[in-house]
Amino acid sequence: MLSEKTRVLLTQEEIREKVKQLAEAVSRDYKDKKPLLVCVLKGAVVFLADFMRFLSIPVEIDFMAVSSYGHSTTSSGVVRILKDLDSSIEHKDVIILEDIIDSGLTLSYLRENLLSRNPRSIKIVTLLDKPERRVTDIEPDYCGFRIPDEFVVGYGLDYNEKYRNLPDICILLEFAK
Ligand code: IMP
Ligand code: MG
Repeated sequence: MLSEKTRVLLTQEEIREKVKQLAEAVSRDYKDKKPLLVCVLKGAVVFLADFMRFLSIPVEIDFMAVSSYGHSTTSSGVVRILKDLDSSIEHKDVIILEDIIDSGLTLSYLRENLLSRNPRSIKIVTLLDKPERRVTDIEPDYCGFRIPDEFVVGYGLDYNEKYRNLPDICILLEFAK
């Protein structure tokens, strides 16, 4: 049973309210713009689906997949593009949508990579942030929840591709500190 291995950290109601607030802030800040939401696969896909429906501005979406962890729970620092964007981002206002920032290595790489493509602007929206674990100087422009240094799953986040479909965000007790 899932309930034996996990403990709820953030309920679906708490997540929904926070995602709505994030979308309202972005809608205000990007009024009269049409940003491109870049969803980092696969973890941010549930967040994107909810977030975009709370936006009151027009947006485009695109997807990128990068390898970070493989099958372990700590970042290797090696980032590889598995799937690139479909279109050019030149002169576009790009908003990177992430599920979680941990070491920051993935996003540092991604931001540098996208900056070299000459967008008008780049900002970062993350649902979760584990600031204690940071090894780079990257900071999100919008952050849902700051969470303690625990391995979490659900709402898109996985452990070895499992648990992405949990509606709540849960601590995986196997790794609980
Ligand atoms: P970073 O490069 O260490 O910042 O790692 C970022 C990526 O690692 C995220 O996009 C997630 O896919 C994954 N990740 C980091 N922490 C967790 C966690 O607690 N649960 C599930 N995935 C995580
Ligand atoms: Mg991710």
